[in-house]
Amino acid sequence: MTHALMKFAIDDGSTNVKVSWIENGTLKTVVSPNSFRKDWKSAALLRGQKVFNYTIGTTKYTYDATSDKALSTTHIEYQYDDLNLLSVHHALLQTGMTPCPIKIIVTLPITEYYNPDDCQRNDAKIEAKRQNLMREISLNKGELFQIAEVEVMPESLPAALSHLLNSNCNEFTKSLVIDCGGTTLDMGIIVGEFDDVSAIYGNNEIGVSMVTDAARKALAAADSDSSYLVANELIKRRHDMEFVRSVVNDESRIAQILERIEIKISELGDQVAYEAKKFAKNPNRVYLVGGGASLIEKAIREAYPTLGDKVMLIDNPQSALSREICLYHADDAAAEVAEPVMLEVGEDA
Ligand SMILES: Nc1ncnc2c1ncn2[C@@H]1O[C@H](COP(=O)(O)OP(=O)(O)OP(=O)(O)O)[C@@H](O)[C@H]1O
Ligand SMILES: [Mg+2]
Repeated sequence: MTHALMKFAIDDGSTNVKVSWIENGTLKTVVSPNSFRKDWKSAALLRGQKVFNYTIGTTKYTYDATSDKALSTTHIEYQYDDLNLLSVHHALLQTGMTPCPIKIIVTLPITEYYNPDDCQRNDAKIEAKRQNLMREISLNKGELFQIAEVEVMPESLPAALSHLLNSNCNEFTKSLVIDCGGTTLDMGIIVGEFDDVSAIYGNNEIGVSMVTDAARKALAAADSDSSYLVANELIKRRHDMEFVRSVVNDESRIAQILERIEIKISELGDQVAYEAKKFAKNPNRVYLVGGGASLIEKAIREAYPTLGDKVMLIDNPQSALSREICLYHADDAAAEVAEPVMLEVGEDA
């Protein structure tokens, strides 16, 4: 038998990397926001604070949570570039585990993983992602995990797995999974307990970043230029006035900024609801996952009024996918859940 590598399930989204692993029998998860800029930070200036200075090829990068020069990761090419490699390694370091050789299971948006036309697996893209993550990278004055093996899974759909298996649905039940992430809106229809996946949908233009961009603009207009990270935190904590005041310099603009955010949230909800209804008119149940899930919940409930509590916001929706993938790949749980998961959907459908 070959030596089993430690495994990490990584939903490396465009705005946040979610890492789940099993440590002493416990499922653990970290969410690591992507906020990197070029060049290195000076350690001397930041005594007591951890500095993460990386090198890929000849390019230097650093983790910088508050920089307004943070490099954009909210585009699809991110899945195959330096920033993805960087964000995965950085997220792994946030687990607190000691760097060692590992196997990772990462994700690709449904529409990258499958050819949208025929639902066939896009092996070229999957391989491109694998190769990208096996590239050389180094951390100044520190050690990184060695990625020895990479497996790629589709985003979104597996996030609802435990729910499906624990709900008594029959082979005719159609479940709509809506994943509202930072950059993309992904949807899929699962038949039964993962007996089949009957349709997939992906839209790279609808995501929480619509709200983030508006928040950043509004902040900049109030002399408070901020990173994506700060803008996102403001969206999450928009009802916490103390926090709001701490990030907005020009206090006279607070009401305006908050209103702008609310408008964008409802625009996001309307767009997701519209696309969802177009994609799946009458599903039997709806699962909401992804970091934007709570933002769109109201709009989705209104779009499917007859479903009532069959519209479900999954607990901790942002990390649902990495947790489920982790459980699916866990050595001891694998036998139990392996059968019903149709991750190779489209291949022989
Ligand atoms: N509780 C919350 N309320 C509002 N927004 C949230 C909450 N939790 C996370 N978010 C936002 O959700 C977004 C990230 O969601 P998620 O991690 O699902 O995206 P992603 O996987 O990085 O993106 P994508 O799937 O599009 O590549 C961020 O903009 C984040 O600020
Ligand atoms: Mg995502």
